[in-house]
Amino acid sequence: MKQIHFESLDSTNAYLKDNYETLEDLTFVSCNKQTQGRGRNDRIWQSDDNNLLFSLLIKDKRLFCQNKTISILSAYSVLQVLKEYGINDVSIKWPNDVYVGDKKICGILLQAISKKELDCLIIGIGINVNQKTFNEEYHATSISCVLGKDIDLSKFKQDIYIKLAEDLDKLLNGYDYYQEIIKYDYLRNKEAYALINNERKLIKVKGINKDYTLCVISNESEYNLNSGEISFHI
Ligand code: BTN
Repeated sequence: MKQIHFESLDSTNAYLKDNYETLEDLTFVSCNKQTQGRGRNDRIWQSDDNNLLFSLLIKDKRLFCQNKTISILSAYSVLQVLKEYGINDVSIKWPNDVYVGDKKICGILLQAISKKELDCLIIGIGINVNQKTFNEEYHATSISCVLGKDIDLSKFKQDIYIKLAEDLDKLLNGYDYYQEIIKYDYLRNKEAYALINNERKLIKVKGINKDYTLCVISNESEYNLNSGEISFHI
């Protein structure tokens, strides 16, 4: 296991994408500032210098077929550490955002990199740690906003790294996280407008399925959605 830290990068995900061939499994790269931070659905990830920006490289082929599980499990790892820091009311907004109350505190971008076949997975995670103010439109919060005090960013980084490595190891040993994860399903029983196959529909969320798709009801029919198929507006 190897950790690398930079003052500034374009994106920690892009760094691993460009260098994965020479890096070992579970390499963890972090930086203080990203100039081209990426979010899901081609969005930009904006963050000030007081937050945690990192990516973890997965080269163990036994995990390649479990990308949906790894995506939500990463959110669950973050959630557990946040709880250890005394943050309550924390949940997972499917597919892998971490929320405190109705505000986002962490976003995750999982990328599968392939040249000929699948070569590696990259889990990119941005957690708002000591940032004090947010643009209202983002509905975001940070650890320091919730706890009312700053925390030690480098200790927090180690705690996150240890928890992620521990949870991935348990997954490799066949541990099933489903019953734990669904206790924190933010969208369960909520009504939302969702863009399904480019059509805006009012849906009711039933909850996260065993295969980590999302079960929703629209016009009395049930749909099991994959993450790329939907965007929510509650
Ligand atoms: C999202 O919520 O849209 C996902 C955001 C993921 C952001 C992190 S920050 C570290 C890593 N590097 C990136 O460019 N993106 C991820």
